[in-house]
Amino acid sequence: MTTGIESILVENRVFMPPEDLVKHANISGMDGYRALCDEANRDPNAFWARLARENLVWTKPFTQVLDESNAPFYKWYPDGELNASANCLDKHLGTPTENLTAIIFEADDGQVTRVTYKALHARVCQFANAIKGLGHKKGERAIIYMPMSIEAVVAMQACARLGIIHSVVFGGFSSKSIHERAVDVGATLMITADAQLRGSKTIALKDAVDEALAMGGCEAVTHVITYKRAGTAVQWHEGRDLWWHDVIAGQSSDCPPVSVNADHPLFILYTSGSTGKPKGVQHATGGFLLWSLMTMRWTFDAKPDDVFWCTADVGWVTGHSYVTYGPLAAGVTQVVFEGVPTYPNAGRFWSMIEQHKVTVFYTAPTAIRSLTKLAESDPTVHPDRYNLDSLRIIGSVGEPINPEAWVWYYKNVGHERCPVIDTWWQTETGAHMITPLPGVTPLKPGSCTLPLPGIDAAVVDEVGEEVERGKGGFLVIRRPWPSMICTIWGDPERFKKTYFPPELKGYYLAGDGAQRDKDDYFWIMGRIDDVLNVSGHRLGTMEVESALVAHPMVAEAAVVGRPDDTTGEAVVAFVVLNGAMPEGDQAIAVAKQLRDWVAKEIGPIAKPREIRFGENLPKTRSGKIMRRLLRVVAKGEPVTQDVSTLENPAILDQLSQAR
Ligand code: WT7
Repeated sequence: MTTGIESILVENRVFMPPEDLVKHANISGMDGYRALCDEANRDPNAFWARLARENLVWTKPFTQVLDESNAPFYKWYPDGELNASANCLDKHLGTPTENLTAIIFEADDGQVTRVTYKALHARVCQFANAIKGLGHKKGERAIIYMPMSIEAVVAMQACARLGIIHSVVFGGFSSKSIHERAVDVGATLMITADAQLRGSKTIALKDAVDEALAMGGCEAVTHVITYKRAGTAVQWHEGRDLWWHDVIAGQSSDCPPVSVNADHPLFILYTSGSTGKPKGVQHATGGFLLWSLMTMRWTFDAKPDDVFWCTADVGWVTGHSYVTYGPLAAGVTQVVFEGVPTYPNAGRFWSMIEQHKVTVFYTAPTAIRSLTKLAESDPTVHPDRYNLDSLRIIGSVGEPINPEAWVWYYKNVGHERCPVIDTWWQTETGAHMITPLPGVTPLKPGSCTLPLPGIDAAVVDEVGEEVERGKGGFLVIRRPWPSMICTIWGDPERFKKTYFPPELKGYYLAGDGAQRDKDDYFWIMGRIDDVLNVSGHRLGTMEVESALVAHPMVAEAAVVGRPDDTTGEAVVAFVVLNGAMPEGDQAIAVAKQLRDWVAKEIGPIAKPREIRFGENLPKTRSGKIMRRLLRVVAKGEPVTQDVSTLENPAILDQLSQAR
């Protein structure tokens, strides 16, 4: 059996973990790692029970670890009760951590605000009391559409405190995306800001929420709470709209956390799949919290005096696990940044690391690649110009990091003394799955190395049999783990079909191709489905196609990814218009119109980099669009594959010349 996934060249350079980390890290040395793996393999349930008992605060202890009776709808710690916000905040009260800075917030313009754990707890309680006072309660769903801010963390934590399920929509997404998600979750509450500031630009948020609500279908939304960030003018709907500062005024800074079952949904976060609209990935309170905390301690070696900085937005899962929950549960100081890495110049990240003495830095390969380019062309923004001595660990997430970017990051940011921690995981996995450990793992640039203790990752063929080392196959997780996706909100059938296909022996199918090398290291080879990865953001080709065909001028569209040096992949769209095929200036004008249209329908990240017009698309006789061939055309390469099943082979020439 073969999966059709070929093997790739792997790097052979090896970089050893620094001695002091090997001695002093929370998991110390390969022996420490192996001991945990052995414990987990011997008796997985006992392992997961021990971790949950020792690391979470339970209001009612669990007696059962894993309920598999309705697999793959696994329930972790099903009869245990706890509260996520209490595990991030209340547990630090009365300990030295209460006076520690929880968040160092740096605004777009450089202004810095600090908040201690005690003060953050008070702010979360006040806001929770406010939404409770408005009548919102456990089990309801809230849409959060906010800029990176202390308030965004407060909003998420306040929901968690009351057992309200939050669904954060990335601030770069359109009103249509908000609408789609609000309808799908049946939201009753929305939390937003007047606008966000990014790279000195002001981008309206409340307007987009108004537009979304005006589209109809979200009549269940009774309140929209708006945080005044930019002071811009907003429309006001009396009775529905409230200011953040008004609702918290006079609220008590004590709000008892609501205990929920461990499998009560903590949040729903939408992510792209190969077909249809984005899926609402549902995560459970207990398991998610456990793994976001454990991975802070293990992968990032979190210690009380760390200054942790994850650059991800709370609109993505990375911002859930490694901004809102993990760092607070671990009791470290973290940096939250409102702006963009290139404003006021491309040295912003390095200057912030210097200023805040960041010890653990976590960002995406796309950021590294673009900052590399800028630093190499402008020495004033080169990391050399900044004091980065505080760093001890540097991480990467979102897509495979190519060896060149890895080595640049290792040398220029980590000064060859900080391990590059390349973490493989997904929205669905909740937290890290395959990753080096800073005091354990010899590093190979481009490999996410080895699975975490308890994570049974493998590369298999089409019937779930492990493939040989050095051969490509499907990346699967063979045993359930606590922070795994519980279901797709409102679509359990799609959940089963997508992640647990019957031919794969009940294994979780990640949707990535991978291979292992002779040392058992994992090398991720990219998605096996119609999912693109643009700057570390997941996009379904179908979503972009649907947006394009929704335009009155468009008859048909096919979207593929083309490898790109900076963004990983770039969106290339092949479009057939109603009526004549445009040429010359007209083609340029129509392409611009369509790109703006996609930005409005989905968000700027989905904008096609290139649009090519044709009279038709390459199709099989049964009418299936051959995206495989379009990928070759998009790369500008000659099509050498077999085209005998094509109905209209000549179309390939037309599309190749349509640049
Ligand atoms: C997909 C998941 C994990 C949070 C951010 C993205 C790709 C992610 C890596 C990595 C190679 C990676 C995979 C995965 N991916 N991290 N370290 N090496 N590929 O979450 O939006 O759910 O995307 O991102 O293709 O399936 P996401």
